[in-house]
Amino acid sequence: MGNIERISGPLVVAKGMLGTKMYDVVKVGDQGLIGEIIQLKKERAVIQVYEDTTGLRPGEPVKSTNVPLSVELGPGILSNIYDGIQRPLEILKAKSGSFIAKGIVADAISRGKKWKFNADDKVKNGGSVKPGEIIGFVQETEFIKHYIMVPPGTEGKISGLKSGTFKVDDVIAKVEKGGKTTELTLLQKRSVRRSTKFTKKFRAEEPLITGQRIIDMLFPVAKGGTAAAPGPFGSGKTVIQHQLAKWSDADIIVYVGCGERGNEMTEVLTEFPELKDPKTNRPLIERTILIANTSNMPVAAREASVYTGITIAEYFRDMGYSVAILADSTSRWAEAMREISARLEEMPGEEGYPAYLPKRLAEYYERSGKVESLGGKIGSVTIVGAVSPPGGDLSEPVSQGTLRVVKTFWALDASLANSKHFPSINWLTSYSLYLADLEPWYLKNYGEEFVQNRKEAMKILQKEAELKDIVQLVGAEALPDEERLILEIGKMIREDFLRQSAFDEVDSYTSMKKQAFMLGVMLYFRRLAADAVKSGVSVDKIAKLKVREQISRLKEIKEAEVDKSQTKIKSEIDDEFNALVKEYKQVEEK
Ligand SMILES: Nc1ncnc2c1ncn2[C@@H]1O[C@H](COP(=O)(O)OP(=O)(O)OP(=O)(O)O)[C@@H](O)[C@H]1O
Ligand SMILES: [Mg+2]
Repeated sequence: MGNIERISGPLVVAKGMLGTKMYDVVKVGDQGLIGEIIQLKKERAVIQVYEDTTGLRPGEPVKSTNVPLSVELGPGILSNIYDGIQRPLEILKAKSGSFIAKGIVADAISRGKKWKFNADDKVKNGGSVKPGEIIGFVQETEFIKHYIMVPPGTEGKISGLKSGTFKVDDVIAKVEKGGKTTELTLLQKRSVRRSTKFTKKFRAEEPLITGQRIIDMLFPVAKGGTAAAPGPFGSGKTVIQHQLAKWSDADIIVYVGCGERGNEMTEVLTEFPELKDPKTNRPLIERTILIANTSNMPVAAREASVYTGITIAEYFRDMGYSVAILADSTSRWAEAMREISARLEEMPGEEGYPAYLPKRLAEYYERSGKVESLGGKIGSVTIVGAVSPPGGDLSEPVSQGTLRVVKTFWALDASLANSKHFPSINWLTSYSLYLADLEPWYLKNYGEEFVQNRKEAMKILQKEAELKDIVQLVGAEALPDEERLILEIGKMIREDFLRQSAFDEVDSYTSMKKQAFMLGVMLYFRRLAADAVKSGVSVDKIAKLKVREQISRLKEIKEAEVDKSQTKIKSEIDDEFNALVKEYKQVEEK
C-alpha cells in the first residue's frame, strides 16, 4: 500500500507502490476511488483515476487490487446500462441519487438472480479443457443463448460439471492443472487492454444490414468490418449511431456514449426499452448493452468506456454472435488521451495529441473482425465510430488516424444537414472498400439486377454532379435532353431514395427487399424515360408525370405492402409512358 504524493486533475502520483504492476487497478484515497496504474517508476506510480478527484489530499492511502482493469462477463449482462468502468448506472443512482457519489462499488452483473445452466454433453468430466472452450449455456433471453466458456488463462482437467440452476458466482465445475485448482462459475473476467485470442480471421463476406438506404445500398460496412462517420457539429453523427443501434441486423449491440451530452444518452435510455426488433419483434434492449460516459463524467473514464465496450463485444463474438459496437464520439476519447498526456508532460504530437494517438486508434479498430473463436464458433465484431472534427475539418489528427484504418467512410456534410437532407452522408466523397468482397453475397441473396442497379445509381449520382457544375456555368437549357434526364433522375435518387427520416415510423427502417424495390422502380422509370426521350418526348413532360409523385412517396409504403405496390406502380409507369409517347406521336403526325 502506498500513498498520494501529488494530484493533477484525473492523475494521481503515488509513492510506496513497489510490487504493483502496470495497468493494475488501484483504490485511491480514503474514498477508494477507482484508478489504473499507467506509469510505474520504481516505487512511484502514476494513476489514472476514473472518478472525480476533487477533494483528494496528498498522504491519503492508495491500495492495489493486483488485478488489471477488467470487465465482468456472464449471464445478466444484456440490457444493462453501465458507466465507463462497468458499474450499472441504475445501482449507482439507487445508491447515491442522480449525482453519483464517489468510490461506489457495484457488481456489474447481478449476483442474486438464478440461471438455468445446461452443461455441454460433449465436455466430459475428467477430460481436459482449454481457454475459450464452451462448456454449456444459459438461455439469457429468448434469442440469446449465453455460452459459458472456460476463461482466458485457465486449462486442465475438468470435474464436477453438471447442469443445474445457479447464481452467477456459484461453482459450476473445477479445473485442475499441476496441483492448482480453479473454480469455474458462470462469470468470468477479462482484462480490457488485451484483445481476446481467436483461432482464425476471415475476410469480409456479408454486409451489416442497417435499414439505412444510403448505407445498405451505396456504402455498406461488412460484418466484422470498420466504419467511421466524421462530421461537423449537428450533422447527424449521433442520429446515425442511434439508427444503427436500433436497426442493424447484428445479434448484439454495444453502444458507447463517450463524452457526449447527457441528454442524448437519456434519449437512448428512454427510447430503447420501447423499441422492438423488426425481425424478432422482441424489445431491442434485450440484445443491447449501453455504456454511458457522458460529458459531465470524469474524463479518464472515457478511455475505459471504449475498452470496456470492445471487450464485451469480443466476449459475445466468441460465442458465435455478430456484434456491432458503436462509439459516439471517438474524438472525445482522443481528447481525454490528450489531456492525460499533457498532464504526464509527454512530448506532444500533432495538435497536442499524444504521438501514440494513431497507434491507439488503429489498435482499437483492429479488434474488429470475423473470426473463429477458441471455442470453435464463428462470430464478428463490427466497429463504427463517430468522429467530431472541430469545424468539420478532416485534416485533424483524429479524423486522419481513423480514416487510415477504417474501410467504410460516411462523410457527413454540413451543407446537406443545413438543407435538411438527412442522413447527411455525402454520396460523392463517401466510400466503402467492402463492395468487391461483398458482391458475391449480394448476387446470391438479391441477384444480378440488384447489383447492377446499385452501380447504375452511383453512376447517375456522379454524372449528375458533373452536369450540375456545367449547369452552373451555362444553365440547364443548354444541356441535351438525355443529360437533363440524368439531372431529373439524380434528383429522384437523392430525394426519394437517399434521403431518409430517422423520425418517421415507416421511413426509419427500410428492409433490403424494400430498398431493392424502391431503387428498382426508379431505375425502371429511368429506362422508360430514356426511351421516351429517344422518341422525342421532352424531359419537362416526363418530370410532370403523375407517377412521379407516387415515386416520391415510395418511402411511405409499409413493408407488408411492397409486393402489392411493386406490380401496381410498374404498370402505372408503363401506362403513363405509353400515353405520353402516343400523345407525342399524334402531335408529330399532325
Ligand atoms: N436521419 C435523420 N433524419 C432526420 N433528422 C435527422 C437525421 N439525422 C440528423 N437529423 C437532425 O439533425 C439533428 C442533429 O443531429 P445529431 O445530434 O445526430 O448531430 P451530431 O452530429 O451528433 O451533432 P453534435 O456534433 O452536436 O454531436 C438532429 O437532432 C435531427 O433533428
Ligand atoms: Mg452527437
